Amino acid sequence: MHDASRRRMMSPAAARNRQPILDVLSLVLPEHARVLEVASGSGEHGVHFARAKPGWMWQPSDPNSEARISIGAWREHSGLGNLLDPVPLDVMSVWPSGPFDAVVAINLVHISPWEATEALVARAAERLVEGGVLFLYGPYRRDGRHTAESNAAFDADLRARDPRWGVRDLERVVSEAQPHGFMLEQAIEMPANNLSVVLRLHP
Ligand SMILES: C[S@@+](CC[C@H](N)C(=O)[O-])C[C@H]1O[C@@H](n2cnc3c(N)ncnc32)[C@H](O)[C@@H]1O
Repeated sequence: MHDASRRRMMSPAAARNRQPILDVLSLVLPEHARVLEVASGSGEHGVHFARAKPGWMWQPSDPNSEARISIGAWREHSGLGNLLDPVPLDVMSVWPSGPFDAVVAINLVHISPWEATEALVARAAERLVEGGVLFLYGPYRRDGRHTAESNAAFDADLRARDPRWGVRDLERVVSEAQPHGFMLEQAIEMPANNLSVVLRLHP
């Protein structure tokens, strides 16, 4: 196998969920948008979205250097001019200055300590334009309950791996975001018992 293709990590979940997520983002974001993606992981989402939406300037990021190598390899392979080089962003540390029309976090909130979500909403609010969107994707509890048995099992597995991780209550995330100026615009049910959560910054 060629070296460059070895650097491009592949996530089966990303291959499955990227089109449903793109369908939601296409409804929520304008045709021209500066987007910061945090926790980009393999980088496959950014390639898919930037290819479909030439008007989106997509900035991927991840604190993990192996992830950034994969994101960079996917970027190079894609040849897309609207997909930028990944930056080493830990949401709990220093952020790029922005401004951004959207901040996208796919599968981060449940696979990081709660403090990461606190930092995510606070820093995103500072860098988004008025009316900008914080988009979250992943599993959530609603009204104090898991929405599916599989999510309960996933939650137990996450907490066993790291007690600071876990499937969050949607209401808790929204309460955390509201004082920073966000309102919950939509919580859309997605395949495999996930949610697309659209938080919009009040003008
Ligand atoms: C489950 S992966 C999700 C990757 C990708 N978004 C996806 O859905 O395929 C979680 C990612 O979050 C990143 N991550 C963990 N803690 C983070 C933090 N504090 N700030 C930013 N990213 C973080 C990890 O490096 C990892 O790439």
